Amino acid sequence: MDKYVIEGGKPLKGEVVISGAKNAAVAIVAATILCDEPCVLENVPEISDISICLKILREMGATVQIKGKNTVFFDTSGIINPVVPYDLARSMRASSYFLGTLLGRFHEAYVPMPGGCDLGDRPIDQHLKAFKSLGASDDMHAGIVHVQCEELYGGQVYFDFITVGATINAIFAGVKAKGLTVIENAAKEPHIVDLANFLNSMGADIRGAGTDVIKIRGVSRLKGITYAIIPDQIEAGTYMVMAAATKGDVLVKNVIPKHLESITAKLRKIGVTVEEFDESVRVCVKPDAQFIKTSVKTMPHPGFPTDMQPQLSTLLTLADGTSIVTDDIFENRFRYVAELRRMGADISVDGKVAIIQGVGKLTGAPVRATDLRAGAAMVIAGLAAEGETVIDDIFHIERGYENIDSKVRALGGNMIRKYFPDINAQAITG
Ligand code: EPZ
Repeated sequence: MDKYVIEGGKPLKGEVVISGAKNAAVAIVAATILCDEPCVLENVPEISDISICLKILREMGATVQIKGKNTVFFDTSGIINPVVPYDLARSMRASSYFLGTLLGRFHEAYVPMPGGCDLGDRPIDQHLKAFKSLGASDDMHAGIVHVQCEELYGGQVYFDFITVGATINAIFAGVKAKGLTVIENAAKEPHIVDLANFLNSMGADIRGAGTDVIKIRGVSRLKGITYAIIPDQIEAGTYMVMAAATKGDVLVKNVIPKHLESITAKLRKIGVTVEEFDESVRVCVKPDAQFIKTSVKTMPHPGFPTDMQPQLSTLLTLADGTSIVTDDIFENRFRYVAELRRMGADISVDGKVAIIQGVGKLTGAPVRATDLRAGAAMVIAGLAAEGETVIDDIFHIERGYENIDSKVRALGGNMIRKYFPDINAQAITG
């Protein structure tokens, strides 16, 4: 199988262009099911989660054509059965979005329980609560969630806590429901605003996306459009931390600086210089700089994003003193800590809190990606460490980072993708 091999210790320098946002793209691709006409999406990231979404649409009967780099044509009129293929759906969390879009169009959906990064339980009770509020019923059999209704009627949706996925699914169910839907305690992430902009460009009537109250007046038709996905806030933040951890000087291009505010603020507290421009940020650290210990608690947007927690924790392993990282969003998002310890990090974890004692340096080692953002943290650690790091299970990383190895090499980083024969298979075959 392929692994990443990184020779660390070199400051990253130069420019990197950020791709389209994974968590916006997976929602908007699913939303094409609600379009009554063909549409074209631009700035679609070439990552495996998107490839799976496209495969699911094709298997359901949609026409999906790659029209050039990062541009995809969709005509979902060919979908006649609201049934999502089991194996494809269970590999990612975003498959839950097919519940909302198929319910919105067909008033029925059969979708396998979603999979995705192992960050804890990750139930979908709030998604189902939203559908119920608009007139749908649900049941589960053999791992497949079935939702159905005679009709979708606008209603009041109040989430017990902030949830990105359930907010998105509530929007999907409300877009063509009869009447007014009000979503309270809504998530405010940039990808929710991007989804609302996409749907409104097609003729939907969604107001308040990006605030904690979203109001949707149902419409009967959505016309076809061409739409460009926003840049990826988390990919951008990941390269910002890469630049900082290697004490480099990197211009991160094709970003929306406002989406990066909490990340920029935290990096500045750690002693990293961040300059903001219209559509880029420059991150630089002097070779003799000492990172300052900092505490961080992950919060829903606009707080510090949980999807940046493993990356920032990796930087903090090199800070002077003790840093405290609290991840209140997921109950099991520190699985990467054991891998960082192999590289010399001094971290202890107690439930949702990691206590990080800064060490002078990290040393390269064979490690594995335990999930998408944990894998990104391994890349950062490998680039900052002395010596060689080999990262296994890189499929996790390639779910959400387009061409990460070539982007790192373009910044002067020594990172290649290399095939390693499967020693277990060899042992069996002798
Ligand atoms: C989305 O996951 C993202 N995934 C995650 O990004 C991100 O970490 C998360 O939002 C928070 O920002 C996609 O957009 C595809 P939630 P989601 O619903 O929707 C609990 C990445 O690295 N919960 O906001 O699943 C849940 O278990 C990925 O790109 C319920 O209990 O996140 C979690 O503890 C990882 N019941 C918390 O709420 C529900 O019905 C927040 O989950 C829904 C959620």
